[in-house]
Amino acid sequence: MLSGLFVAAFITLPSFGKILHSAADLKDYDFVVIGAGPGGSAVSNRLTEDPSVSVLIIEAGGANNDVITIDVPLLCTMLTPNTQWDWNYTTTPQPNLNDRVLPFPRGLGLGGTSAVNCLVYTRGSKQNIDRWAELSGDPSWGWDAMLPYFKKSEKFNFPVDGHNITGQFDPAFHGFEGYIGVSVPGAGRAIDDRVIQTTQESAEFPFSIDPNTGDHLGVSWVQALIDRGVRSDAAAYLSPEVIARKNLDVLLNTRVSRILSSSNDLFNVVQYLNSADGTLKTIRAGKEVILSAGAVGTPSILLHSGIGNATALASLGVKPLVDLPSVGQNLTDHIGVSSTWLVNSTLTYDTVLRNQTLAEELLQQWKETKTGIYVDTSENHLAFLRLPENSTVLKEFGDPAAGNETAHYEFLFQNGLNSVTASGNYLNIPAGNVSPKSTGAVTINSTDPFDAPLIDPGLLSHPVDIAVLREAVKSAHRFVQAAAWGGYILQDLTNATTDADIEEFIRENAVSFFHPVATAAMSPFNTTNWGVVNPDLKVKGVKGLRIVDASVAPSLPAAHTSAAVYGIAEHAADIIKAEYGFL
Ligand SMILES: Cc1cc2nc3c(=O)[nH]c(=O)nc-3n(C[C@H](O)[C@H](O)[C@H](O)COP(=O)(O)OP(=O)(O)OC[C@H]3O[C@@H](n4cnc5c(N)ncnc54)[C@H](O)[C@@H]3O)c2cc1C
Ligand SMILES: *[C@@H]1O[C@H](CO)[C@@H](O)[C@H](O)[C@H]1NC(C)=O
Ligand SMILES: *[C@@H]1O[C@H](CO)[C@@H](O)[C@H](O)[C@H]1NC(C)=O
Ligand SMILES: *[C@@H]1O[C@H](CO)[C@@H](O)[C@H](O)[C@H]1NC(C)=O
Ligand SMILES: *[C@@H]1O[C@H](CO)[C@@H](O)[C@H](O)[C@H]1NC(C)=O
Ligand SMILES: *[C@@H]1O[C@H](CO)[C@@H](O)[C@H](O)[C@H]1NC(C)=O
Ligand SMILES: *[C@@H]1O[C@H](CO)[C@@H](O)[C@H](O)[C@H]1NC(C)=O
Ligand SMILES: *[C@@H]1O[C@H](CO)[C@@H](O)[C@H](O)[C@H]1NC(C)=O
Ligand SMILES: *[C@@H]1O[C@H](CO)[C@@H](O)[C@H](O)[C@H]1NC(C)=O
Ligand SMILES: *[C@@H]1O[C@H](CO)[C@@H](O)[C@H](O)[C@H]1NC(C)=O
Ligand SMILES: *[C@@H]1O[C@H](CO)[C@@H](O)[C@H](O)[C@H]1NC(C)=O
Ligand SMILES: *[C@@H]1O[C@H](CO)[C@@H](O)[C@H](O)[C@H]1NC(C)=O
Repeated sequence: MLSGLFVAAFITLPSFGKILHSAADLKDYDFVVIGAGPGGSAVSNRLTEDPSVSVLIIEAGGANNDVITIDVPLLCTMLTPNTQWDWNYTTTPQPNLNDRVLPFPRGLGLGGTSAVNCLVYTRGSKQNIDRWAELSGDPSWGWDAMLPYFKKSEKFNFPVDGHNITGQFDPAFHGFEGYIGVSVPGAGRAIDDRVIQTTQESAEFPFSIDPNTGDHLGVSWVQALIDRGVRSDAAAYLSPEVIARKNLDVLLNTRVSRILSSSNDLFNVVQYLNSADGTLKTIRAGKEVILSAGAVGTPSILLHSGIGNATALASLGVKPLVDLPSVGQNLTDHIGVSSTWLVNSTLTYDTVLRNQTLAEELLQQWKETKTGIYVDTSENHLAFLRLPENSTVLKEFGDPAAGNETAHYEFLFQNGLNSVTASGNYLNIPAGNVSPKSTGAVTINSTDPFDAPLIDPGLLSHPVDIAVLREAVKSAHRFVQAAAWGGYILQDLTNATTDADIEEFIRENAVSFFHPVATAAMSPFNTTNWGVVNPDLKVKGVKGLRIVDASVAPSLPAAHTSAAVYGIAEHAADIIKAEYGFL
């Protein structure tokens, strides 16, 4: 990899505001927020807009300041797995993937997983978000009510190369004054014209001006979480100016172990590991604890706190306090597999990856002018597509998508591989099943809150999911049969043509797309037989505890998930403000 050779990764501690490095400096707070990912950062920012409201964020990782590997969009694939910014989790062996154990990265530090992800900004279809309203029984979680929150979080910005982006996005569906930067690509890639030409040649792959309008079907320019050529993650909600607010503190490098109750059903005390002396300490929130530890961290903390399936907790030796069997259950994730072709070109990322001089020049260009290919994520185009309506897969299994205008699968069009190869240039098209029926669970198998949870996304456990992915692989192969690719494709490296062979190729090669949700899902008020939080995001059956992160999404949108979490957090902040009468 490039990293050790020339990428300087260093952390400087900020001199501004109140980033605390020691629990000795803590005061009293109205809200104690656990985790500084999209959920925790956004809700903390909005709550502290009211100067009378005090918030402490407790984050397990560090500041992640000035880490060039994080800041350069194109280097995103170097951030995980098993780095200093990762929790280094793996899945349990996946029986439908030939028992493979997959990496399951989760970000550590300010920004959480949004600091290590690959930046693609997608909200899903209108039908996806309307499904949240249906499942939660609350129309305020539907598309029409959520669109203003998606926009509120967003700071759409014009790409660094200054090209005219008319026709590459629809401004009516974007926000320009929020915190997280969103941009279409700021540097051309050599395959761009062929991708666009394919949309003109093939009815199967129509062009769509914008994947974030609620109607997401088609091939679009990628919108990515980038602000003038630099990664924009949840730490944008905790900029120096925001952290300088007198009512917001952030305690870093501190792991939360449990939520404790101070009396009966009032769960407002956070127990954490004091890094200075290795002892467990507690802090009580004046008003509420907000859990934003993500779709893995949140259920794990709940379970260690005795909130979960009482039978399962008791048999493990954790004292059950609140019987909520859905905690950790219904984990839903995306799975994908890449199709790769050897191509007749040298103008791919492969050429950069095996030439350190060139890579250094491009990095230098990024540092000096924030231009060049390092300003973008791994692809300039993506597609959200459905199986044909007469597909035998839909006949056999019914439609797994949230509706007739919601994608079954997604493509990312990558001009080269992301790993160093000895020779050759490549076209790589990861295809993801974005409307999976499979579900799994996050569970614990020890009473030690610092042990890793067991993560079983249950990938391909429902038979429709491999059928959809198989059809997606075939569709990717049709994509490159368009005339646009004539003279370009040299060799298909998938080596599978029959359905059975493609399915085996999938079982052997597919990976998680790392979009877990629903492990502390919303269900309607007064529904007690499933769900973890009510539509106001308060944990059912207890007081003083709310959840604001990916785990509350009751279903997985056909999309990369961070946009959803920013929207959830913006909405959550308004719910809390209204409840207490905050500004
Ligand atoms: C490799 C990868 C690529 C991805 N690509 C994309 C993409 O291109 N586009 C996209 O939109 N999404 C992508 N995602 C998913 C996206 O980043 C997540 O959906 C999103 O970050 C979830 O936000 P969250 O606030 O729920 O949790 P997180 O971002 O995971 O934040 C949780 C925070 O809580 C902290 N925490 C956890 N446990 C504790 C504890 N016990 N004590 C204290 N702190 C704790 C963590 O350190 C972390 O900072 C990707 C994810 C991965 C892993
Ligand atoms: C993950 O592994 C990296 C590399 O070994 C290490 O630096 C980091 O601290 C690990 N993360 C955690 C949460 O232990
Ligand atoms: C950008 O292109 C559109 C349509 O192609 C055109 O109408 C518009 O004037 C252009 N904008 C600028 C600033 O050149
Ligand atoms: C709770 O866990 C037990 C033991 O693992 C399991 O048998 C039971 O089905 C679970 N209950 C619910 C309601 O999921
Ligand atoms: C999973 O979610 C569905 C709704 O999508 C719900 O009907 C079901 O009860 C949930 N299961 C659990 C264990 O929470
Ligand atoms: C590597 O890149 C440099 C800088 O662009 C170029 O001069 C050199 O010829 C390249 N080396 C190879 C082997 O292509
Ligand atoms: C679906 O319809 C298309 C176009 O009408 C047709 O070519 C194809 O054979 C049909 N497929 C099936 C499985 O019926
Ligand atoms: C989807 O279904 C709705 C309701 O039946 C219908 O109005 C709409 O036209 C359909 N959309 C497509 C793309 O077929
Ligand atoms: C818990 O799971 C981990 C990871 O699979 C495993 O290493 C460990 O042995 C398990 N512990 C128990 C008590 O089963
Ligand atoms: C490779 O591309 C060149 C033109 O760029 C063309 O002349 C040649 O025929 C192509 N080779 C193959 C094998 O398609
Ligand atoms: C497919 O075959 C080619 C040529 O034999 C080989 O280089 C490549 O690794 C194979 N790909 C897979 C996914 O097995
Ligand atoms: C939930 O039930 C309580 C008590 O039965 C009732 O007062 C309340 O209105 C219900 N809430 C909703 C949203 O249905």
